[in-house]
Amino acid sequence: MAHSTDSHDSISRRIFIISLIGGGAALVCAPVTKLAADFLRPIAPHGETANRLYAGRVAEFEIGRVTHIPAGRLYLSRTEDGLLALRQKCTHLGCAAQWNEATQTFQCRCHGSEFDRVGEVLAGPAPRPLDVLPITIENEEVWIAATQPIERAAFDPAQLTRIDDVAQSESINP
Ligand code: FES
Repeated sequence: MAHSTDSHDSISRRIFIISLIGGGAALVCAPVTKLAADFLRPIAPHGETANRLYAGRVAEFEIGRVTHIPAGRLYLSRTEDGLLALRQKCTHLGCAAQWNEATQTFQCRCHGSEFDRVGEVLAGPAPRPLDVLPITIENEEVWIAATQPIERAAFDPAQLTRIDDVAQSESINP
């Protein structure tokens, strides 16, 4: 009988020690995991929300470059005249269009639609250009209203957010 109690105590002790180690490991790992997640996330100034996505500083977007912003499922296209935020969602049936550096076009593999750097349809069944997203520039920081897509029938230069001597806020006018 005494043997059974010893055995029970021993098992309880083992469970206690394992729980202690497990709890300790969780306590040590949680902050490390959070640190790793914080490190991997792009650095954004305060004020970022789901509909106010920080894309970077104006100077990061060189003329002629198309930059993917995966967090917003969008691309930022910098032309000589300004910035255009383009929704990645193809206007045919909603697949994700991808920028192809070699052809300098957005291509949708689902049914072959193709768009130019300002989102105009070049080929395929897509019925209209890629949607644009409102851009705001504050203190040379580019912010995008990623959940407010704007449909358009065609590209118009007025859709660009101009960035010459930007100091104050500026938004596109669809
Ligand atoms: Fe893009 Fe059909 S969904 S071409």
